Amino acid sequence: MNKKYSKVLSPFTFPVSGVTVDSRVVMAPMTTFSGNEDGTVSDGEIAYYKERNKGANLLLTACAYVLPQGKGFHGQIGVHSDEMIPSLKRIADSLKENGGKAVLQIHHGGRMCPPEELPDGQSVSASAVAALRDGAQMPREMTEAEIKETIFAYGEATRRAAEAGFDGVEIHGANTYLIQQFFSPHSNRRMDKWGGSLKKRMSFPLAVVDAVKATVQRNAKHPFIVGYRISPEEVENPGITFQDTLALVEALAAKGLDYLHVSTMNFWAGSIRDERDTESRTKLICEKVGNKLPIIGVGSISSPEQAEDVLETGVSLVALGRELLIEPHWLEKIKADEVEQIEKALDVHNQEGLKIPTPMWTSLLSRTGWLPIKE
Ligand SMILES: Cc1cc2nc3c(=O)[nH]c(=O)nc-3n(C[C@H](O)[C@H](O)[C@H](O)COP(=O)(O)O)c2cc1C
Repeated sequence: MNKKYSKVLSPFTFPVSGVTVDSRVVMAPMTTFSGNEDGTVSDGEIAYYKERNKGANLLLTACAYVLPQGKGFHGQIGVHSDEMIPSLKRIADSLKENGGKAVLQIHHGGRMCPPEELPDGQSVSASAVAALRDGAQMPREMTEAEIKETIFAYGEATRRAAEAGFDGVEIHGANTYLIQQFFSPHSNRRMDKWGGSLKKRMSFPLAVVDAVKATVQRNAKHPFIVGYRISPEEVENPGITFQDTLALVEALAAKGLDYLHVSTMNFWAGSIRDERDTESRTKLICEKVGNKLPIIGVGSISSPEQAEDVLETGVSLVALGRELLIEPHWLEKIKADEVEQIEKALDVHNQEGLKIPTPMWTSLLSRTGWLPIKE
């Protein structure tokens, strides 16, 4: 056992569920674009998950849509009906076969959904405000009944995840999707109980947490993790400010969650709204609530030294996304004292060895600079 990386290799127990993981390493949620048309998992995705199940101890899945109306990507997996349970069980089993803990990320894309993926071709959101990107569809404002139905759907998704054998769910409240759209003053212009003030913009995210937690209390037959992912800021004006986020994380900390996952592309990066503010967003959030709510830090962490530095800030766990695409055996190699053999760039000739399904592979290679490439 490698003694040098004592923080990375120390166990962690989630405070609410009591679930223990053997190290601080988490696989970040990554959409594969490779599911079947009906929302079930493909064989290629199962091979991809199996290949990585020793790369971290807490394994977060690609996001899964809680309603057909929330499907955010071509080839996304679904958790929207009981018929998905056997498919979800295949994912949970493949992630857990070497002792890891599997967590399903539950998601609704809101106004970010591609219309062609939706049953009626029309996206929905908190308000009828289009995203600021070329060709973005104008979403339809959700009715009160639809809001309640959607909150209920997150609870149902949680029940299905537990029945499928997952060890938990992560509520996807980040990366501009529906939950963030309700919290954002850009996408939420409502003047009813779901919007209008900072407190009311928190109503939908907090109602989703309540629905998920109530489902766990009612249904889960085994210890079950509930985590929540946020994005700390938005560039839009109006948009989510860091002050808004600090208020939300306080409210989330009072809900009894197992962790808060702060989604950033670089753990150490400062504000995206104010370039003079250079402090790591995650570090600041950890200083504010880290003593009551364990924090997962993520973003451009690839070496064990970098992971140790991030853990030094007080965050409880570190998540790796792109590095686990490049190096599926990351944690295993650290444990075996083979750190110098950890791959740092994607071997473009080794799709088969890396077990990355073709739609995901094509998407990764089509975006220059997304991953370091070894030619
Ligand atoms: C191919 C790919 C797919 C992703 N899909 C998701 C997703 O489904 N849910 C999510 O919250 N974040 C998603 N992300 C963001 C990652 O979870 C992570 O936050 C980001 O890549 C930064 O971490 P890294 O530098 O370790 O890759 C995705 C990232 C990549 C590269």
